[in-house]
Amino acid sequence: MKRDKGCGDIRDTDIGSQMAVAGWVFRRRDHGGLIFIDLRDRSGICQVVFSPDVAADAHTRAHALRAEYVIAVTGQVRKRPEGTENPNLPTGLVEIYVEELVVLNEASALPFPMEEAAEAGEALRLKHRYLDLRRPEMQRNLILRHRVSKLVRDFLDEKGFLEIETPMLTKSTPEGARDYLVPSRLNPGHFYALPQSPQLFKQILMVAGLERYFQIVKCFRDEDLRADRQPEFTQVDLEMSFIDREDILLLMEGLMQRLFREVMGIEIETPFERLSYGESMDRFGNDKPDMRFGLELKDMADLASRGTFKVFLDALGTGGMVKAINGKGLAGLSRKEIDLLTEQAQSFGAKGLAWIKVKNGFESPIAKFFPEDVLREMAARLEAVEGDLMLFIADAPKATYDVLSRMRLELGRRLGLVKEGFKFVWVLDFPLLEWDDEEGRFQAMHHPFTSPADEDIRKMFEGDASDTSVLGSLRAKAYDIVLNGYEIGGGSIRIHRQDVQRKMFEALHITEEEAGMKFGFLLDALQFGAPPHGGIALGLDRLVMLLAGASSIRDVIAFPKTQKAFCMMSGAPSTVDPKQLRDLHIKTDVIAEEPKGKNP
Ligand code: AMO
Ligand code: AMP
Repeated sequence: MKRDKGCGDIRDTDIGSQMAVAGWVFRRRDHGGLIFIDLRDRSGICQVVFSPDVAADAHTRAHALRAEYVIAVTGQVRKRPEGTENPNLPTGLVEIYVEELVVLNEASALPFPMEEAAEAGEALRLKHRYLDLRRPEMQRNLILRHRVSKLVRDFLDEKGFLEIETPMLTKSTPEGARDYLVPSRLNPGHFYALPQSPQLFKQILMVAGLERYFQIVKCFRDEDLRADRQPEFTQVDLEMSFIDREDILLLMEGLMQRLFREVMGIEIETPFERLSYGESMDRFGNDKPDMRFGLELKDMADLASRGTFKVFLDALGTGGMVKAINGKGLAGLSRKEIDLLTEQAQSFGAKGLAWIKVKNGFESPIAKFFPEDVLREMAARLEAVEGDLMLFIADAPKATYDVLSRMRLELGRRLGLVKEGFKFVWVLDFPLLEWDDEEGRFQAMHHPFTSPADEDIRKMFEGDASDTSVLGSLRAKAYDIVLNGYEIGGGSIRIHRQDVQRKMFEALHITEEEAGMKFGFLLDALQFGAPPHGGIALGLDRLVMLLAGASSIRDVIAFPKTQKAFCMMSGAPSTVDPKQLRDLHIKTDVIAEEPKGKNP
């Protein structure tokens, strides 16, 4: 049976015509004489009616229809009787009176009712993902994702980018996560790594003279997962030659503007606000600030040092900081409620939470440690007025930032300050290197191919490559694009000179031998006329998640994995046939258990 229209596409202009539709039985209501079925396909839902007066045989057989049976029906489109219209449905004015019913397939009893699928446990939804994906919300997300991908392709094609595929079976790329390895049967004891990103290949495409590359590409990272992280995820990855930072920022702003206009019907303002990394940390405590609300962090070191509160003075005396945030309107909290807030801060890693209420003067167990004028200056700095609650963290910088940035988000939500809508910000001028306490050496903050700022390249060559104070002060030509508190993309202008690249490896304590082994092919390429180049990669899953208003990237990925990187539907990863392992020359000494923690 041929379909004339999608279920969701039938309108009052179709009244009187014969129509064939097909789909899944969504709801069934038996009203004595008449049987009503909400029939669903990808386009939506329409009501079909079985009446003994119209087709006795179809009506009798309709009694046996169950949820998610697949049927095709033909019949006349009629106007719904007065008072039975459904204004919430695009097809709500009409219904089809069935003359012919074909049952195309039956369905077993469902593991969860379709209408309550959203409330079913996520583990169950992921196990039966084919059912979960039948839900209109999920289909909307996948359709949105398709539109975004298509628009990205069209936009970049217009701008002269070529979509070029890069290998999945490759060498380890240094994006900072653990690799997924694939054993090579033909080369015993050797492994491919699945790419953490196409970073090295896209740079080599620039050396190869392709000038503008892009790819919508899977990347693989074996790292700790959370709501915005999957072990395999998708990047909109691009690279350009003969450009500087400004070209990339403008290109991305143009892309976002087009995307929001054409996919969301929203005009966004450009240029996006820009923050240096330092300013972002100072004001928001992290490098992915949600700019939809204020509640900025304020430095209190100078004021704290004018008091006698030991916790503050100790922190300052040991290289730490004292920073504060304004709990707007929270002076009314009881001791108990403040204890809860303290516990929350502690769950974020705080040692404690000092507080001062602005309430009939200043109310706080620590007020006695400060002269009145210092308390007033604290309030002024936080723009705290009568009824506000000043909250202080004193700790090492990293802990202070961590805790206060999370407190800020929490308070923003709690106080209803997070506005609807979309707010982009560029975070620029990242440090080039980041000290790794565990390893006792510097790591690249972005990746080792990111160019230092021009004046800092000079510093690297002039100075002592092992002087940590010099190395710690170098800045990178790196940039992140942040949307509503999520890092949706990151990139950099690259090192295109071999001598600078070698210097960078030196700073990272990567030996020449190691560099040759890991990235030899890039170093080789850089000596044969590499043009200046740079690029960026957008996290497509995160971007679509935000556009869809979803709270997890799992909701915009057709077949996602759980927190333990487990696929509930296919059961991957699984044990394999011993013969497969023998072929691959692999011996394991673990007795495989049932994968742990199948929960999302
Ligand atoms: P980066 O590592 O910043 O840069 O990755 C780019 C963007 O990809 C997204 N992302 C993820 N999304 C979901 N799950 C993950 N596990 C995950 N990891 C990263 C983020 C991030 O901003 N080669 C460089 C790009 C470049 O320099 O051009 C790179 O991969 O949104
Ligand atoms: P204490 O002197 O330990 O009784 O702490 C007094 C107040 O300071 C309590 O409200 C603690 O929660 C708070 N406090 C303790 N350590 C810190 C810290 N590192 N930063 C901010 N406040 C703290």
